[in-house]
Order: sequence, then structure tokens, then C-alpha cells
Amino acid sequence: MTDEVVLTSTDGVLEVRLNRPEKKNALTHAMYETVSAALEQADTDPSIRVALLTGTGDTFTSGNDIKDFQARGASTAPRGGSSFLQVISSMQKPLIAAVNGAAVGVGATMLLHCDLIVAARSARFVMPFTSLALIPEAASTLLVPRLLGHQRASALLLLGEPLDAAKALEWGLVNWVVEDRMVMETAREIGRRLAALPPEAVRLTKRLMRHGEPTVAGRIKEEMGIFSERLASEEAQEAFTAFMEKRKPDYSRLR
Ligand code: COA
Repeated sequence: MTDEVVLTSTDGVLEVRLNRPEKKNALTHAMYETVSAALEQADTDPSIRVALLTGTGDTFTSGNDIKDFQARGASTAPRGGSSFLQVISSMQKPLIAAVNGAAVGVGATMLLHCDLIVAARSARFVMPFTSLALIPEAASTLLVPRLLGHQRASALLLLGEPLDAAKALEWGLVNWVVEDRMVMETAREIGRRLAALPPEAVRLTKRLMRHGEPTVAGRIKEEMGIFSERLASEEAQEAFTAFMEKRKPDYSRLR
């Protein structure tokens, strides 16, 4: 049996590839556990600066394995999916998604916790929870209306209407739509760009953006506290010095 999750790292970017193409990369309990462990480890490994999620073949992922759902039945035991959502929603390092095809169910809702998303022109996004007698997860009932407005969210979450890549771009669900063959190349390039940036500044910026419902005044105060610390940081000093010396900054020795 081939690995159902393939992990590789290059240039500070951990690639996590869902690799169960014969089942359209449907996520089993074991796959969730492997992905969660890899992302948790990446978050504390100083050699990794960015994680990138993608899938093998023509599908990003068809979501939770429905056979697993069926087997789970009335059991209330914790499952891999909920810890996976905890992990991706609390990751400190940036998470990129290279959506190489259909993203269904949790395959679509997990994208709400990714920071930058490259989609293939053939990608589409479907959240068919109600038709499976389920409700949407991953805080999508909060995040989709916030991102798209109530009416658009209702079409996606109540009706389960599919969204194509062009509309996903127009609605701000993804950052870039590229030809299918360019998805990985584009996502890796974004990964390399992020990995070359000062890591602490990137983590802090992500943390500030992902905060809950702060007041503007509270946010200005919080930003100023962190901004002052940043001014004194080794990263900022390197950035300032490089600017003054008319050279590129080098953050490679910083952790
Ligand atoms: N769980 C379990 N098996 C799945 C699956 C899932 N989420 N998604 C696809 N598969 C299986 C199919 O049962 C089929 O298995 P088989 O070859 O043994 O019959 C195989 O993967 C290929 O899927 P198929 O539907 O034939 O491919 P397709 O190209 O026609 O369609 C999708 C691909 C992704 C559009 C379609 O499979 C789909 O919509 N799946 C989503 C299921 C879903 O509702 N997920 C949300 C869970 S909340």
C-alpha cells in the first residue's frame, strides 16, 4: 500500500500531500492523525517556516471518508477530524493550500484556516453537509457568512451549491486561480517567498489577523506593544541594517 499522506520538505516548506486518489483523497481517521502530527511538528520545528497542503490526482480532497462516518454511527468517541481542525485552526506558521481539483466537505471548510490559497482552474468547492444530514464544521457557519455575506453563505451551506474557481476568486475565497499544471509551481513559489521572510514577524502577523473579534482600540494597543518589541528584535535589526547597507536581508540564521 502506498502512503496515504506524503510528507516532504524543501526550502523550509513542508508539503503535505493527501494521496488516496482512488478514493478522491477522502480523509480517513489515520490520515487525519498523520496530517495533524505533521503540522503540529512543523509548528515547532525551526527548520520549517510554512506548510503547504495539496492532493494527488484530480481532487484536492472529497472530504471525510463517508465509510468512516457510517462506521462511527452513534459513537461519541473523539475522532481524527476534530483534532485535525483544532490543529489547523491554531497553527502559528502560515498554511498554504494548493487546491488541485474538487474540494468537498471538510476539504472546502479546511481552506478557511489556510492563509493563502492557489486554486487550479478546474477546482470547485462544495459543502454538501445538509444533503448528508450533517451540519457544516470547522467554524464554517461563522467564517463563511463573515467572508461572503449571509446570502452567498446560505447558497453554499444550506443548499450545498458548488462554487467554481472563478467565482471563488471573485468572492475572495482563494487568492489565485492558475492553469491546472501551474498549481504546485505557483504554491511552491509562494511558500519560498514566505519562508524567506523573518519568521517571527510572519507568525505574529498571522496571530494578529486570526484573532477573534477585537475592538479597534484594543487592537491598536496590542499592535503597538508587539510593534515596540519588534523594533528591538534581531529580525528587524537585520532588516534595517540590510536596507542601510543596500543589500538583501539574510534571516537564515534566525529562529
Ligand atoms: N468518502 C468515501 N469514499 C469516497 C468519498 C468520500 N468522501 N468520495 C469519493 N469516494 C469514493 C467513491 O465512493 C468511489 O469509490 P469506488 O471507486 O469504490 O466506487 C471513488 O471514491 C471515486 O469517486 P467517484 O464519486 O466515482 O468519483 P467522481 O470523479 O465521479 O466524483 C467527487 C468525485 C469528489 C466529486 C465525488 O466523489 C464526491 O462528491 N465525493 C464527495 C462525498 C461527500 O459528500 N463528501 C463530503 C463529506 S462531509
